[in-house]
Amino acid sequence: MKQNVWVLGASWLLSLALAGCSGGGGAAADAGRITVGFSQVGAESEWRTANTASVKQALGGADFKLKFSDAQQKQENQIKALRSFIAQRVNVIAFSPVVESGWETVLREAKAANIPVVLTDRAVKVSDDSLYATLIGSDFVEEGRRAGRWLLDDSKQVTGPVRIVELQGTVGSAPAIDRMKGFHEVIDADKRFQVVRSQSGDFTRAKGKEVMEAFLKAEGRNIDVLFAHNDDMAIGAIQAIEEAGLKPGQDIRIVSIDGVRGAFEAMKAGKLNATVECNPLFGEQLAQLIRDVAAGKPVPKRVQVQEGVFTRDQAEAELPKRKY
Ligand code: AHR
Repeated sequence: MKQNVWVLGASWLLSLALAGCSGGGGAAADAGRITVGFSQVGAESEWRTANTASVKQALGGADFKLKFSDAQQKQENQIKALRSFIAQRVNVIAFSPVVESGWETVLREAKAANIPVVLTDRAVKVSDDSLYATLIGSDFVEEGRRAGRWLLDDSKQVTGPVRIVELQGTVGSAPAIDRMKGFHEVIDADKRFQVVRSQSGDFTRAKGKEVMEAFLKAEGRNIDVLFAHNDDMAIGAIQAIEEAGLKPGQDIRIVSIDGVRGAFEAMKAGKLNATVECNPLFGEQLAQLIRDVAAGKPVPKRVQVQEGVFTRDQAEAELPKRKY
């Protein structure tokens, strides 16, 4: 596995030592603790709420001083937060990028300031991957493939066309791009499957409902399957399907991604057919990575979060075990 050593960790240690001599300012004044600037995407979904709680709990420990900022799903807010962390001379910046592109400049500023960056959950597209130390998150392409494989498996008895509508996540975000790619990799090989409508619901329940209403208006009863890039949009869409007088989970089969409690409840009620797990509870793993990066230890460039797929028949037994 590719290893990555951030010499910056050593410079952090040096800055702590110097702060001890000079009385230092900014982040270095908290000698012994790692000051982390964390910029979160927002609070758009149950998944995100669980992720924020996990990160806050892990970085709330004695080793850390956490500066947390909520970007409200806006890249410009994240860039502002990152610049403010740089100005405050935090020891490590961690952030979950709203979208993939547009980070080059601010990441160069962090690098010039010798502040290592840890990406959480979502990837960035940059020409130089030394602009970040490591990324901890899920394999979104594989999640899309898993949703596609579930659909293939569940369609064994179907001989005619399968008309699919797709609720995409935030435009330009890594999970939206990758989940779509993975899903298509699997279903495109089988001519029965056609995605007849595909639009962003921005990962929220409200938007998921609104866009599903529009799909139903345009397609009437000619929708066989809904693929939603997250559970929240699926839950919003379930409401729209019911309001249209149809039975979610039966008239329209639904597969989504995340594995939040709300999805298990919907599966238990027979309204959602399957959810592909995307585990948000990586706060402790992140904390350890940050410790290693700050100490200048080698870290893998990519750290994978473990996850599975759950179907309706497992919902009742799994629900009490769900931690998010
Ligand atoms: O980046 C992870 C995605 O972001 C989750 O699937 C979704 O629920 C969240 O908003």
